[in-house]
Amino acid sequence: MFNFQNYWKARQKIVNEALDEYLPSDSSGPRVLIDAMRYTLFAGGKRLRPLLAIIGYELSGGKNLRDELLPIACGIEMIHTFSLIHDDLPAMDNDDFRRGKPTNHKVFGEAIAILAGDALFGHAFYTMVRSTIPPDRMVQVIREITDAIGLDGMLGGQVADVTGENKEPSAEIVRYIHSRKTGKFIRASLKAGGIAAGAPENILDVFHSVGDKIGLTFQIVDDILDEIGDKSKLGKSVGKDRESGKQTYVRVFGLEKAKKEASRLASEAISEVEDTFGKTTGAPLISLIKFIVERNY
Ligand code: IPE
Ligand code: IPE
Ligand code: MG
Ligand code: MG
Ligand code: MG
Repeated sequence: MFNFQNYWKARQKIVNEALDEYLPSDSSGPRVLIDAMRYTLFAGGKRLRPLLAIIGYELSGGKNLRDELLPIACGIEMIHTFSLIHDDLPAMDNDDFRRGKPTNHKVFGEAIAILAGDALFGHAFYTMVRSTIPPDRMVQVIREITDAIGLDGMLGGQVADVTGENKEPSAEIVRYIHSRKTGKFIRASLKAGGIAAGAPENILDVFHSVGDKIGLTFQIVDDILDEIGDKSKLGKSVGKDRESGKQTYVRVFGLEKAKKEASRLASEAISEVEDTFGKTTGAPLISLIKFIVERNY
């Protein structure tokens, strides 16, 4: 019987150790910048995106996790952490609490928080290219990730998120925001693992479709938890979306419909995984999808 908790814990540990190894050392830059980068990176994230990359890699037959995949998985987590530090800034969501601790700018000030985010963003690519996969695959990984975080990805979504505050709730806008600010990068994390292992096109297509559904589910649940979650479990403030007039699934569709939509998307994603890999081989991804929809943190 597959034990997801053990599977995940073991991989979180591997990712955390690799992140520690890849982060700049004492002598390679200003102390305060290194401290600020490490502060949010090691504050206790779930490491969900690195796990998706690992699962994509393992499902595609990848055999050298340490040298081929970990630099990519860690780069992905650095990009994600950069996005959190900037998302919390007073000019963005103005949040005081993240990963169970005061936000980066609360501790280091806004200037250093902005620079720590920038530094993590840059260091992510410096780290990813340490992967020993063939250069053509590396280019494909970078293309997938940069597309997911760029104009038609995370940054475009974040623009729509901040400019959509206090506007008329719209199903079309919230779908755009969620698929871009969060969904595409989650999809790219899974696909990056597949690309790194040299997965064939038909498998990458499955990851694309499953990743889309997981990504949207993830952000719908994030909206639900902002409404009904527990601050101490989540490690971040609750009720902020409503207060800021954000476009969320809960605001547009109501709590019950939002929950139904998350479950529907997750079931569809699970069926696709089962059809492609079977229940046993697909177990890690199936369990992760269940976690994403059932989570309370
Ligand atoms: C939170 O992401 C930010 C969103 C994109 C909604 P996670 O819930 O994965 O945050 P950590 O990494 O576990 O802190
Ligand atoms: C954040 O979305 C998305 C990115 C960081 C790109 P949210 O603003 O909903 O994330 P939380 O709720 O602050 O974690
Ligand atoms: Mg935000
Ligand atoms: Mg936020
Ligand atoms: Mg949120």
